[in-house]
Amino acid sequence: MTAEQELLNVASEFIHLFYSENQVNIPIKTRLNQIAESIHRTQTYFHTFQELEFGAKVAWRNSNRCIGRLYWKSLKVIDKRHLQTNIQIQKALIKHIKKSTNNGAINPTTTVFRQQMPTEKHGIRIHNSQLISYAGVLDKNQLIGDSNNLQFTNFVKANGWTKKVKNFTILPILFQFENQPIHQFKIPKKNILEIPIEHPKFNWFKDLNLKWYALPAISNMVLKIGGINYTAAPFSGWYMGTEVGARDLADKVRYNQLPIIAKKMGLDINNKKSLWKDRALIELNEAVLYSYEKQNVRMTDHHTASEHYMTFEKQEAKAGRKATADWSWIVPPVSGGITSVFHKKMSNEIQFPNFFSQKNIWETDLKSKTSKCPFH
Ligand code: ARG
Repeated sequence: MTAEQELLNVASEFIHLFYSENQVNIPIKTRLNQIAESIHRTQTYFHTFQELEFGAKVAWRNSNRCIGRLYWKSLKVIDKRHLQTNIQIQKALIKHIKKSTNNGAINPTTTVFRQQMPTEKHGIRIHNSQLISYAGVLDKNQLIGDSNNLQFTNFVKANGWTKKVKNFTILPILFQFENQPIHQFKIPKKNILEIPIEHPKFNWFKDLNLKWYALPAISNMVLKIGGINYTAAPFSGWYMGTEVGARDLADKVRYNQLPIIAKKMGLDINNKKSLWKDRALIELNEAVLYSYEKQNVRMTDHHTASEHYMTFEKQEAKAGRKATADWSWIVPPVSGGITSVFHKKMSNEIQFPNFFSQKNIWETDLKSKTSKCPFH
């Protein structure tokens, strides 16, 4: 099959899905002809706003690793496909953060930039894995900040970033249009909402000086709708507490706070059967939920999220669809067995539209440029 034919097939599959779930004025035949004609002439086609909006929502609905999909219809889709310059993109990203953060009353949002064209290898790419994230460096083998971002922080430094990295130093955002230099900018401080972590009962907790940001905004995945790749389509929603409390701040290779908390609690960390890790983990998770609530920042707990997932599944069944999901991602990293999702069979079939990971070009194509010895 030719690439043209293949694109037309995928496009038509999506258009049929779109028409089956929406009221549309133009007859489907007319729309399919338009698309066929466009693909024939230019090897690509462009979605209407309604198609794009629906496609992005369904991409969320189809995100097998996401427990929060009950809200898929409420996704705000910001169409920025027309933007041409770095400054415009920079402004749109800041606006995304602002609109989606919404002073803590988080709005699930995606901003969609221009699609990858048939002649392009990468299209427009945001290099950060999240719009808001903390840098990580090794100082004499000692980790400072977020180990998730060690390599990326190196890359940012090679790109001229000189800020001294502490435990919670926000990385600048780096993006680029195909075949153009990287554009780097700092998110204005006033646009980044962070939450200091304190505990409802342990007074000493706040002295650990922990914090986290309000808005998880994944920015390096590709949104695929009807054969079209939106290589820059950052999306964000609210956190589930365990993402921060049981992973970001708890993982041994991340902020590794459990031994510190357990010692403060006076637990015997040499005796595994004292369950010191589990006790510290629960206190940390309570602290995270408590602190976000105290600052009026929307966050869900894993019990509620699990119930919401069950409702989502029922809702899907009612609409004649079968929810697909990745069990190992849906089951929360604490108290798995006491949430209902644990006891469900799930099918991890991949459906379109969807968000997919794509190779970070800073790790492949761009790396050779920055890590080469300057003398050779
Ligand atoms: N797990 C990631 C983190 O801890 C964020 C992934 C997206 N999460 C979300 N609730 N939208 O930063």
